[in-house]
Amino acid sequence: MTTFLKFLHLATIAVWSGGLVVLPMLFWQRRHVANVAELERLHRVTRYVYVVVTSPAAFVAIGTGTALIFLQTTFHEWFSLKMLLVGAMAMLHVLAGLTAVKVFSANGRMGTTACIVLTSLYLLVIVAILVVVLAKPGIDANQIAPHLFDPGGLPALLDQLFGETRTPTP
Ligand code: HEM
Repeated sequence: MTTFLKFLHLATIAVWSGGLVVLPMLFWQRRHVANVAELERLHRVTRYVYVVVTSPAAFVAIGTGTALIFLQTTFHEWFSLKMLLVGAMAMLHVLAGLTAVKVFSANGRMGTTACIVLTSLYLLVIVAILVVVLAKPGIDANQIAPHLFDPGGLPALLDQLFGETRTPTP
């Protein structure tokens, strides 16, 4: 079961990552379309890549990853860092959708610099996640936030952050 889930996780991550990397190039091609028929064709291909390929792959990648949390030892600092980066990747996924709407509106365009910046952001976050998840660096949370991983340590952390303002439980 774990092997199957991990296989599905990696396969869908490959599709998700590939889709995100290819989308800025499709947006950029909008500036080269010569007529309405070409524009509609490019729009259809871009929507297909985003709606039918990349987004479902992202859902399955996140779903299988969530299932793997319960099957693997994930209570390590590197995994929290991975989740932070995955959050950034999900935000960038949403950004691609918003960019698609803007680029394919009347007079919409994507410049070369914007295309390079967006592609670089995708590559950066994907490579960062892969490095963290494959190298599994030993990060000591105590150096950053002592007691962060203490069981039942949240009340003490809240007291530290906001002072002793909470109503004590009887
Ligand atoms: C909400 C999203 C995600 C969750 C909950 C999640 C969770 C997990 C879990 C629990 C594992 C097993 C860890 C272990 O073997 O100790 C795993 C493996 C892995 N994940 Fe994710 N993941 C997510 C997204 C991603 C993304 C976006 C990428 C890459 C861009 C990624 C790349 C990998 C890789 C390469 C492995 C295999 C690591 C190995 O076997 O050593 N994951 N994931």
